[in-house]
Amino acid sequence: MGRTFFVGGNWKCNGTSEEIKKIVATLNAGQVPSQDVVEVVVSPPFVFLPLVKNELRSDFHVAAQNCWVKKGGAFTGEVSADMLVNLGIPWVILGHSERRAILGESNEFVGDKVAYALSQGLKVIACVGETLEQRESGSTMDVVAAQTKAIAERVKDWSNVVVAYEPVWAIGTGKVASPAQAQEVHAELRKWLQANVSAEVAASTRIIYGGSVSGANCKELAGQPDVDGFLVGGASLKPEFIDIIKAAE
Ligand code: G3P
Repeated sequence: MGRTFFVGGNWKCNGTSEEIKKIVATLNAGQVPSQDVVEVVVSPPFVFLPLVKNELRSDFHVAAQNCWVKKGGAFTGEVSADMLVNLGIPWVILGHSERRAILGESNEFVGDKVAYALSQGLKVIACVGETLEQRESGSTMDVVAAQTKAIAERVKDWSNVVVAYEPVWAIGTGKVASPAQAQEVHAELRKWLQANVSAEVAASTRIIYGGSVSGANCKELAGQPDVDGFLVGGASLKPEFIDIIKAAE
């Protein structure tokens, strides 16, 4: 089965309710390919999830940007996977590099979160990626493989997982990975899945790219055989996001 192109918009910690409503109105008016060609998921901050879910067109879906590692309870400030399910939120982004770097989330912790979220019925966008220092020292694939391994050790069924390769040096910097750089890591990741999980999972799991994706560079990136879509930050807050969705065509 072919891999349906996937475009995620990660709005990070941005927006007022007025701004969020405007973004949703722009998305709702956008002319984009049908759902069998591209799956679109946008991820507002937690507090805006109900608003976006209620106002967003029905062929686009919503994702939370994080969730707690196990069932809720005495964990001040956290939001559990169960609560997202209860609200009808289908997706969650886990292991984003900002959470790994700033909030100290380890590979194991991210793996535990992915496993728990899946067990509750959420679909997961699991992020991996190396820092500039790691790339320059030649350890890109070791880093990305270790991050993926922590997930693979805890997850059997990959049908609800999308892997987002986001090189840290490309996030929010305007310094996008070249199509060749993205393709190289995506192909390696797929090989890793084939060797360590299964040929079926390697062939069917979508591996999307994130890091300074824009209307100007998306088409060429989308042309790479192992690039199955994008996780977009800054440009997902702008009308340009519609052009990025159209890169699926
Ligand atoms: O999750 C998306 C992301 O980290 C990329 O951000 O602003 O470089 O597109 P940006």
